[in-house]
Amino acid sequence: MSVKILVVGSLNVDQIAYCPRLPLPGETILGEKYETGLGGKGANQAAQAALLSSPGEVVLFGAVGNDKNGIWYLEELAKTGVDCSKIKTKESSTGVAPITVSMENGENSIVVVPGANMLFTEEDLDEKSFEGIKIVVCQNEIPVCTTRKALELGKLSGAQTIYSPAPCPKREDFETFCEKIDYLIANETEALQLSGSENISEAVEALQKKYKIKNVIVTLGSDGFALKTDEELTKHPVAEKVEVVDTTGAGDSFVGAFSHSLASAKKSTIEHAKFASFVASRSTTRKGTQKSYFSRAELA
Ligand code: RIB
Ligand code: NA
Repeated sequence: MSVKILVVGSLNVDQIAYCPRLPLPGETILGEKYETGLGGKGANQAAQAALLSSPGEVVLFGAVGNDKNGIWYLEELAKTGVDCSKIKTKESSTGVAPITVSMENGENSIVVVPGANMLFTEEDLDEKSFEGIKIVVCQNEIPVCTTRKALELGKLSGAQTIYSPAPCPKREDFETFCEKIDYLIANETEALQLSGSENISEAVEALQKKYKIKNVIVTLGSDGFALKTDEELTKHPVAEKVEVVDTTGAGDSFVGAFSHSLASAKKSTIEHAKFASFVASRSTTRKGTQKSYFSRAELA
């Protein structure tokens, strides 16, 4: 089976505290449960895509540190079917993400300490690996230069590129690679921040005009998603309401599922996004990040 989807991005060990609600600034509250699991936006997206794909179709480029977390991470990630052969080990700590999840509504707040992720440079990408790839997927938890190079190599090889601006990049950085993006997938906050607009339709308009991005998708949490190709801006609610337990990584599940759909089925962008929205909504019904993602077998 040949590789179809190449993800370039971060790997973090998620350290999740489940609390009755999110703490206020300066406040100490008691949590009810603590868990560690696989996270990092790049690895999350790769894992969700791999769980839906056939073995060997998804490869991840990124870095862990030379610590226990790094060894553990690689052992566990391989179980999702992601090809881990391109993941480097750097003289650093593995990225970690302390996360607080509110048990009231499943919302979270996240701090990322990138460690090895920021040592993953352009030199760690080789042109040959991009040959014959259908989809290249990037986010913003590794150095900007590396992301730019990945998108460039993706376009050179004729792949379709997906970028999720998470966490939101500086506009002057974004401008250096925005023209290499075929699909921008952002949440509401990112879309507003990146475009400097006050509402979603203005934001999408601005992203298309100013940054020349053809397809813009804004995920709207439990309200589904908004999408604009070269036609109207349309909103699409989630197919079925679910009991939300933990929204951590739901955006990454959307991106992973979207890239899988784009790589394997001839459908409209709306249909790809509807599938992604369905898969992502399922992930919110279970605790954890990658741990909560549904595989192809589970969805069937
Ligand atoms: O999008 C969720 C992810 O953000 C978490 O897995 C955390 O590691 C941070 O990268
Ligand atoms: Na989840």
